[in-house]
Amino acid sequence: MNTLDCLTTRRSVRAYKPDAVPAELIDKMLEAGTFAPTGMGSQSPIIVAITNKEVRDQLSKLNASIMGADTDPFYGAPVVLVVLARKDVPTHVYDGSLVMGNLLNAAHELGLASCWIHRAKEEFETEEGAAILAGLGIDASEYEGIGNCIVGYADGPEPEPKPRKEDYVYRIA
Ligand SMILES: Cc1cc2nc3c(=O)[nH]c(=O)nc-3n(C[C@H](O)[C@H](O)[C@H](O)COP(=O)(O)O)c2cc1C
Repeated sequence: MNTLDCLTTRRSVRAYKPDAVPAELIDKMLEAGTFAPTGMGSQSPIIVAITNKEVRDQLSKLNASIMGADTDPFYGAPVVLVVLARKDVPTHVYDGSLVMGNLLNAAHELGLASCWIHRAKEEFETEEGAAILAGLGIDASEYEGIGNCIVGYADGPEPEPKPRKEDYVYRIA
């Protein structure tokens, strides 16, 4: 798939098979994430790759509780790649968002389904979320959660994109 096709055909998928994703595909996604541009080359983001089912389920429950629901906000996806970024870098939200974009587009190129799931910021402001990071030697107070990139194999056809709004682009020629 060429890059332009990848960018226009990627879709957010909200139904997943439980099938595991090969580690080499996750590694390729992670590498693509780490090559996202960052302000002044700061590399302010980090990516926490969760393939462990217990931790994946724990994070799903935490995310659901933040929005006051008891559904699985990860839609059954077996893998969650959490992007966080160093709060002390002024461009950290932009940096982390581009990492998320790279992850989503890399997933599509590799034949995987994905979706950005919100509330990563709130997840790691909780004691439970901070404890997950502490287990990796990461001090949660230094980072802001940017997004959860869920990954897996689509269970069913991928959705059609909405038409693009008419006034998306303005030109000054
Ligand atoms: C910042 C951000 C937060 C999002 N949060 C969620 C979410 O919590 N749950 C969800 O199902 N989709 C979420 N999405 C996916 C969007 O709903 C999706 O990108 C949008 O509907 C357009 O669909 P497409 O990605 O297939 O083009 C989020 C996307 C972005 C960029």
